[in-house]
Amino acid sequence: MPSIPEPDAATAETGAGHDFVVVASRLPVDRVEEPDGGTSWRPSPGGLVTALEPVMREAGGAWIGWSGDAGPEPGPFEANGLHLVGMGLSAEEVRDFYEGFCNATLWPLYHDVIAPPQFHRHWWEAYVAVNRRFAQAAATHAARGATVWIHDYQLQLVPQMLRQQRADVRIGFFNHIPFPGYEIFAQLPWRRQVVEGLLGADLLGFQRRADAANFLRACRRATGLTTKGSAVRVSGPAGPRDVHAAAFPISIDSAGLSQIAQREDVRKRAREIREVLGQPEIVLLGVDRLDYTKGILHRLKAYGELLNEGRLGPPQAVLVQVASPSRERVEAYRALRDEVELTVSRINGEHAEVGSTPVHYLHQSYPREEMAALYLAADVMLVTPLRDGMNLVAKEYVACRNDESGALVLSEFTGAADELGGAFLVNPHDIEGLKDTIVRATAVSRAEARRRMRSMRRRVREHDVARWAQTFLSTLNGPAAPPNGDAGHEAGADPDGGTSPDGNTDPGGHASTSPDAPLGPGAAAH
Ligand code: G6P
Repeated sequence: MPSIPEPDAATAETGAGHDFVVVASRLPVDRVEEPDGGTSWRPSPGGLVTALEPVMREAGGAWIGWSGDAGPEPGPFEANGLHLVGMGLSAEEVRDFYEGFCNATLWPLYHDVIAPPQFHRHWWEAYVAVNRRFAQAAATHAARGATVWIHDYQLQLVPQMLRQQRADVRIGFFNHIPFPGYEIFAQLPWRRQVVEGLLGADLLGFQRRADAANFLRACRRATGLTTKGSAVRVSGPAGPRDVHAAAFPISIDSAGLSQIAQREDVRKRAREIREVLGQPEIVLLGVDRLDYTKGILHRLKAYGELLNEGRLGPPQAVLVQVASPSRERVEAYRALRDEVELTVSRINGEHAEVGSTPVHYLHQSYPREEMAALYLAADVMLVTPLRDGMNLVAKEYVACRNDESGALVLSEFTGAADELGGAFLVNPHDIEGLKDTIVRATAVSRAEARRRMRSMRRRVREHDVARWAQTFLSTLNGPAAPPNGDAGHEAGADPDGGTSPDGNTDPGGHASTSPDAPLGPGAAAH
């Protein structure tokens, strides 16, 4: 069964739109300024484009997104054989929509308020305006009966805005980041509008079952709608319809990365990295966007204490921390960078000797080959976010370990923890626990490491990003809805904001896996 509809004959002839349209905040290419003043586009290979490229090519699909720079709208263009539609954001919109509402309101709110979210009405207005433009572009470029797949927290109003204009299209939405427990989500002054915006979709995908359950609860509480299993019943001009919310854990191009890690030049580079680090027995590695959700400071604190206590450190062990630059104009990110760099300097100042440095800190981004070499060079991978929708770095490390060696220390608060049972799971807030687990991972026997890595590799190999996209799209376009739970329709809103009858949260406000927690076809086995 094809995962997207056959091209509409009339559309194909007239060229009046695309049968498959991806709408994401970012284009899968970066703008490059040429020396002659012209512009060219360089592919920015991410997981999403790797997954969707085959579907895009097969269906002649279009990708609508923003280039990442303030300026006029690039409009439709071809790059790398793909139809792209570049959206423009003005300098004010970059400030109010992107840096403001997306990354200083929604991002911290959806990551359990690790940083305090800021609520500003003019940021919300910019969010509405930009979402409306993306919805308009999707309406313009989608053929009759097309499948439109909208991505992530930057575009939560697009499903409803698009449906209002184009009732004929099939709309999917995937939330790449966590969806918070209702007690946190409820802080958002525009919570009802966001839920209603999302409910314009036919299928809503989340990383974990707990995220989908949190969303369903938000529907009941913020809008008073009823839910049954994974379905929310909404009314529309053509009568009631069911919107489904389920888990579809995202993954990586496992085979592609595994192949890169087998290349002789990459393996040679991995050996070189170990050499320049001074041939330590143990290389520890952290790879993150420089973001406060990633738990970099907790990791550095644990490592610093292990050095102080003489339990770990050079010449036996060194830590390499890649922290790629991110959202550098947002205040919380600037403050974090200062704090991380101060902490690294302190640790190195106290523990380094000439020619021997305990923390190698790299505030840079690297191509896939260099990343694969780093993963190959690392005996222990430290992935310790305080909250993370999935965390693909954990899966990338596993995919590169073709010889089944290596150990993964993984935060419980990542989506990946639901899938990678062979990891050394940690609570990053528990510094003593984190220290002990890091030490345990460095001392694991070969046999145990192999057993753990083998099970994780099987999972990552079998559940790759192509399967993720295929599963989501065939569920969106398939006749059958995602499987429902067996609970009956539940009570609607509690206008007083009191205790909800479904009260399925733990003290931290996260939905626990309640009996009605939706299980998408791609949901993780535990
Ligand atoms: C996360 C989000 C993406 C986002 C990416 C980079 O992975 O889920 O939607 O694109 O971070 O962030 P940026 O702000 O640079 O787009």
